Amino acid sequence: MARKFFVGGNWKCNGTIDDVKKIVTMLNESEVPSEDIVEVVVSPPFVFLPLVKALLRSDFAIAAQNCWVRRGGAFTGEISAEMLVNLGIPWVILGHSERRSLLGESNDITHWTNIVLAYEPVWAIGTGKVATPAQAQEVHVGLRKWLSEYVSSEVASSTRIIYGGSVNAANCKELAAQPDVDGFLVGGASLKPEFVDIIKSAAVKSSD
Ligand code: PGA
Repeated sequence: MARKFFVGGNWKCNGTIDDVKKIVTMLNESEVPSEDIVEVVVSPPFVFLPLVKALLRSDFAIAAQNCWVRRGGAFTGEISAEMLVNLGIPWVILGHSERRSLLGESNDITHWTNIVLAYEPVWAIGTGKVATPAQAQEVHVGLRKWLSEYVSSEVASSTRIIYGGSVNAANCKELAAQPDVDGFLVGGASLKPEFVDIIKSAAVKSSD
């Protein structure tokens, strides 16, 4: 089953209104492979979601960086999944290693439907040390085996497993060429023009 290449831009806790407008303009003006070839999702901080939603081209989607595990109510500071749906935000990043290590979150808050799974070696996040293509491929194969054993073979073959950790314009093509690397979750480089080059690496798959 063909898995559409997926490139997520995790802006983390960065930016001002002006920065957001600049990044969105850069994305809106970029020429990238069509929606049939690559799915692009950017994840701004919560406070900028409506602004990005209003300005971003319609072939790119938006993700929140977290959401509350239950329905809304008396939960000061939390944002519910219903609120995201109401805003037209179809994706959310859950279980990022920064939230696990800094905020004590665990697997209890994640679930198994409609997911894109990101493998991000913690030593590669924000360090400039990227996994080799062979390392990424080996772990992605292992994750797919795990899905097959503990979820189902359908989920294993259809779930996109993306790599994250110091992905940039220079290393994305070789990583994208690995058969089980179905895209990227990009942090630092998603704030820069090279994010467009990373999106373009999807072309490696369509020329297989
Ligand atoms: P990085 O972050 O690309 O800056 O290494 C990746 C991530 O944490 O999603």
